Amino acid sequence: MKIHVKTLARLEEVLAQEIAEIGGTDIEIGKRIVSFEGSLKQVYRANYELRSAVRVLIPIQSFKARHEDELYRNIRKIDWSEYMTNHQTLAIDSVVVNTPAFRHTKYAALKAKDAIVDQFRANTGRRPNVSVDRPDLRVNLHINQGQASVAIDSSGDSLHKRNYRTQTGPAPMNEVLAAGLILLSGWKGDSLFLDPMCGTGTLCIEAASYAWNIPPQINRSNFGFMKWANFDEKLWEEVKAKAQKNRKTSGPQILGSDKDFKSIKIAQQNIDAAGMSDKIEIQRKKFEKLVPPEGPGIIIMNPPYDERLGVEDIGALYKMMGDQLKQQYAGYEAWIISSNMQAFKQVGLRPSKRIKLYNGPLECKFQKYEMYTGSKKAAKA
Ligand SMILES: C[S@@+](CC[C@H](N)C(=O)[O-])C[C@H]1O[C@@H](n2cnc3c(N)ncnc32)[C@H](O)[C@@H]1O
Repeated sequence: MKIHVKTLARLEEVLAQEIAEIGGTDIEIGKRIVSFEGSLKQVYRANYELRSAVRVLIPIQSFKARHEDELYRNIRKIDWSEYMTNHQTLAIDSVVVNTPAFRHTKYAALKAKDAIVDQFRANTGRRPNVSVDRPDLRVNLHINQGQASVAIDSSGDSLHKRNYRTQTGPAPMNEVLAAGLILLSGWKGDSLFLDPMCGTGTLCIEAASYAWNIPPQINRSNFGFMKWANFDEKLWEEVKAKAQKNRKTSGPQILGSDKDFKSIKIAQQNIDAAGMSDKIEIQRKKFEKLVPPEGPGIIIMNPPYDERLGVEDIGALYKMMGDQLKQQYAGYEAWIISSNMQAFKQVGLRPSKRIKLYNGPLECKFQKYEMYTGSKKAAKA
């Protein structure tokens, strides 16, 4: 069957690579979506093993929906009894673009919901209820230029919910973005990893999960496909057991630090909840005071941008980061994500790579700095 995997902007390539690794074929890259051909097994594997996936969707129909009547009629033509019963609950996620007849995305969702519940009422005398938070069936509706595609959502909750976040900090990073940054950096999980502004520990946890080849959803027990009539529990158990068997028995040093006591406390709780206490060491420390282990190693850091976290002198903070990297981190490769282009300039190092992406609504750059031991020329030679 055709499987569509949603992701975040600029993570499409790394997601396609991950999909190839779980045996997906005919992989096609779109905008924030990667599609492939696979079986039910791949649907389960995609949900359990893909680090850069947000949702795994199974498309069921596409048709014209230039206005609400056309949408209603075409949704009603689908036999919904194949996907749910009238005792189950339903939710519709919708995105509408370039289709002026739908002024609100929510309105399209409402029409689609009406078509489904009306079909059940007409055929069985009873209509299914809507549940926004934990529906039995989540339907995904996407309308672009009057062309609708309808899919059922095998993930249920978004896959950034890995079930290790005990509390959030002031600006926690989305887990899928954190995993995506690690994949984009090209780190293979075989050298020291450091996040010196680790906040609630997201990058450290995702790094440990990747380095030890632990399935990203090891702590999650709820997925949309479990409510489907065709749920194959034996196959699901096999998929989980196989993924867990592939866990590595050793891994690199993974270090996190932050100046904020409360963030470190939350990070430790999250690390414990993720079952990673033996794999990650964290400490409360200012970056300017941190003495790192000798390189080589990789740093991935998400400093304040002066957007969500007000910082007194953002320029001075970024200048300090650049100075520290130059003076203390020979042999390291450092990646910094930020939306603050002015502050980036204060780092005072020339990035060897720049990737444009988004952290939530904020347009950011993810920049790589190589800290050579000795001169750059000698290192290259
Ligand atoms: C955007 S948050 C990081 C969020 C983190 N990625 C997460 O997922 O929770 C930036 C962090 O940098 C920390 N920070 C700011 N200045 C610092 C400094 N000089 N040394 C160490 N940490 C610092 C803040 O305490 C904050 O936790």
